[in-house]
This record gives sequence, C-alpha cells and structure tokens, in this order.
Amino acid sequence: MSNAKKNIKNIRIDYDKSLIDFNNIIDSPFDFLNDWINDALAIDPDNANAFVLSTVSKSLIPSSRVVLLRGISEKGLVFYTNYNSDKSKDIFENDNVCINFFWPFLEKQVRVQGKISKISSIESDNYFNSRPKSSQLGALASDQSSNVPLDFSFDRKINLLKDKYKESSVDRPKYWGGYIIIPSTFEFWQGRPSRLHDRLCYKLEQNNWVVERKSP
Ligand SMILES: Cc1cc2nc3c(=O)[nH]c(=O)nc-3n(C[C@H](O)[C@H](O)[C@H](O)COP(=O)(O)O)c2cc1C
Repeated sequence: MSNAKKNIKNIRIDYDKSLIDFNNIIDSPFDFLNDWINDALAIDPDNANAFVLSTVSKSLIPSSRVVLLRGISEKGLVFYTNYNSDKSKDIFENDNVCINFFWPFLEKQVRVQGKISKISSIESDNYFNSRPKSSQLGALASDQSSNVPLDFSFDRKINLLKDKYKESSVDRPKYWGGYIIIPSTFEFWQGRPSRLHDRLCYKLEQNNWVVERKSP
C-alpha cells in the first residue's frame, strides 16, 4: 500500500489557470455561476453539475453529500432526491443549506448559502417523466437512507419492478422530487499562485446583490 500519509504532505499545486477580473464584475451571481458551470462542462461534462450539499440536523449535526444540479435560474438551484432521505429529514427541521461546487481542472470553487424548499409537484412530475425508465425504477426500488440487510439484493427488486412495469409507464412516487435552493450568498474562488487566491462574494441585501472581495 502506498503511504498516503507521506504522499499527501508532498502535494504542491501552484494554482495559475485563471483569475477573477475584479474590474469587470458580473452583476448577477447566477450569470457568473452559469459561466463557470459552462467552463466546467467544456472540460469535464460528466461531473460539471455535481456539488456538495450540506444540511444541519435538528440536533445541529452537519451532513454533506454530493448531488447533481438539474436546474439553474434567477429563482434558484434545483436538484432531485428522495423526500424521506436523511438530507430531507434535516431540511424538514432546518431549511438553511450550504452547497459547494469544486472543479479541480479549473481550480475553481463556488460556495452558496441559502434557504431550501420543495419545488411544485408538477415540476417534479415533468422532470421524473423525462428520466430513463431505469432511473424511474431506481427511485421506486430504494427507500433512500434506510437500512437494508447486508445481503439485500437490489437487482432482484429491480427485476421484479421491471416485470411489473413492462407494459406501463412509471408515475413519480410522492416521496421523490425536487428541491430549490434560494441563495442569499455566493462566493467564487479562483486558485492563484502562492496561495493568494481570488475570492469574490455576493450578498443579498434588500433585493440587491452586494459585492465584496475577500482575502485568500
Ligand atoms: C456524483 C454523485 C451524484 C449524486 N447525485 C445525487 C442526486 O442528484 N440526488 C440524490 O439524492 N443523491 C445523489 N447522490 C447520492 C448522495 O451523495 C447520497 O448518498 C444520497 O443522496 C443519500 O444521502 P442522505 O442519506 O444524506 O440523504 C450522488 C452521489 C454522487 C457521488
């Protein structure tokens, strides 16, 4: 086994791929995020929309996990999940979330804080109906975040569901749907040489995005 403890100490990247032009700031952080996602899509299309979602439970324990961004507009950022999952239980108790995108090839990071709520059932239906049948059956097969026996076979469950829905379409289960994150802050981070990274923050104040630069 290679010595991770020793090797991680020796990783040294001097970030130098890009910069934030503080003289030409984009007014809308949504446009800025959209641009950076487009940059990421051009380089790593399979992972460009992945972000870490952090929630905080009723007992103030934080949890993070990766989910996929499925919608972006001035209204907010949308992803889909199981409404009974652990993240959804946290969200039910506490609608404050923080999310983080990291695109290593671009040396870029974006952090967003905001409030989260469910999208309408019609929007969730539309998205669910656009998914491949295999993904739809996956949503039926998994009671996300619940415990299962070690020898539980999801293949078997999926095969039974495939049989059941061979001739018919799959309706969205009510426990599966979308959330929208309505941002109150954004931070755009661009790696720079000598650890003197660029950081540009947007804060929502009286319906206006106020811009601040932060020390690295
Ligand atoms: C690349 C990637 C994409 C993922 N996308 C989603 C997603 O869009 N929705 C989702 O519910 N889980 C997604 N997951 C799984 C979550 O990270 C997590 O395991 C799951 O949602 C259960 O989380 P919870 O128990 O904290 O609720 C993804 C995982 C990875 C690594």
